[in-house]
Amino acid sequence: MAMSTTPRAAVILAAGQGTRMRSPVPKVLHRVGGRAMLDHAIEAAEALGCERIVVVVGDHSPEVRAHVVKRLGEAAVAVQDPPLGTGHAVLAARQALAGFTGRVVVTYGDVPLLKARDIEPVAAGEGLAVLGFEARDPAAYGRLVLGSDGGLEAIVEAKEATPEQLALTLCNSGVLAAEAELLFSLLDDVTNENAKGEYYLTDVVGLARGRGLAARTATANEDAVMGVNAQAELAQAEALFQSVQRGALLEAGVTMPAPDTVHLSWDTKVGSGAVIEPYVVFGPGVVVEGGARIRAFSHLEGATVASGAEVGPYARLRPGAKLAEGVKVGNFVEVKNVAMARGAKANHLAYLGDGEVGAGANIGAGTIFCNYDGFFKHRTVVEAGAFVGSNSSLVAPVTVGAGAMIGSGSVVTSDVAPGDLALARAPQQARPGWAARFMERMRAKKAAKA
Ligand code: UD1
Ligand code: MG
Repeated sequence: MAMSTTPRAAVILAAGQGTRMRSPVPKVLHRVGGRAMLDHAIEAAEALGCERIVVVVGDHSPEVRAHVVKRLGEAAVAVQDPPLGTGHAVLAARQALAGFTGRVVVTYGDVPLLKARDIEPVAAGEGLAVLGFEARDPAAYGRLVLGSDGGLEAIVEAKEATPEQLALTLCNSGVLAAEAELLFSLLDDVTNENAKGEYYLTDVVGLARGRGLAARTATANEDAVMGVNAQAELAQAEALFQSVQRGALLEAGVTMPAPDTVHLSWDTKVGSGAVIEPYVVFGPGVVVEGGARIRAFSHLEGATVASGAEVGPYARLRPGAKLAEGVKVGNFVEVKNVAMARGAKANHLAYLGDGEVGAGANIGAGTIFCNYDGFFKHRTVVEAGAFVGSNSSLVAPVTVGAGAMIGSGSVVTSDVAPGDLALARAPQQARPGWAARFMERMRAKKAAKA
């Protein structure tokens, strides 16, 4: 099937105040699956093939503007001030879309689960098309009023609906599409003479019908079009998102005995044949190859784990942790910005920050890479086959040469040559019989007091 060649643009509405979130963070910057809801909407628009994307932001949230500018550039921002309704919001994007001819898709910054494939049926084709859904509880949603031919006659907001119309369960998701010229010319005719005193985007349907133009609907799953207005809904969206992501991993051949306890990010990549044990949290930017095992209660972010590597239980991989094949990172080990080469091990209680660990090197329990001097970060290099004894502090910048050994409890402040043994600790003293004499004296003292 040939792809449609009609150019597409998206207008993403994000100018609402989001007061019901009761949060100092602007609503659309709240995250689902570790990514701002607005970015989910932008991603969907990009995946739809929109060559221009305009985000309509309120004057009240400079953070949202900054977020859009950083991702899409200055030209992608349209300010709606003050917000006078959804129709008014789309009109605010007119200037930014000057010169664009093609289809404009209107979507929302607070509808994080909507994917390009859900929008495609309205984006494709010609004329005015609205994305509807069958609502479990239609409540305050706009109702889609269909004609006898199945075409869309009008969208009626709940506040203006007759009892008959309120009984309709096919509701307006808010997402619609039309040719730019048609959409803006219809919006020119929208007034604010209604229950809310707002310029309703939804009025474009009745106006189009009044011009003798057809309008049509496509439907999406209710979960996909859910909007987030409050924290409870954000949590609900997160739960839906997680369940979809987990399902996709299981489908792809990842073993997860307790999927409901595994928390994923939007970009988590896990290869088939990998095992993810219960209660593992993936922050953004993690790649786990097939054949790796992530054991229970581990927390990973910005890390890559190669095949045959084992992480946890209770391990923390932070950004820049790169574990090659067969690496072992055990309980209570934190790794940040360190590449561990094939077969290297840090099995217990360590902090490895900023550096590298060579192939087959062994990092003993309690080892610390002292990477920070209070002002700057420095690197620690442990070369292949080196053995770092337990409870050692490696004060960076420092290199432990290939095959070198560090005696337990050492504080290593200068480089260790390959093959050397470094001991940097107080020598042991022995005082024959001292302990026995001391205990005898103390016992006698205590007996005298009783
Ligand atoms: C809207 C639809 C309704 C639909 C529902 C789906 C209209 C008139 N009604 O109602 O048919 O069932 O969404 O959730 O469109 N926004 C702006 N600027 C504004 C007003 C809104 O950017 O001036 C943004 C908001 O940030 C929000 C979205 O548009 O993301 C929807 O606005 P909202 O006020 O929630 O519309 P509803 O009354 O829910
Ligand atoms: Mg709403």
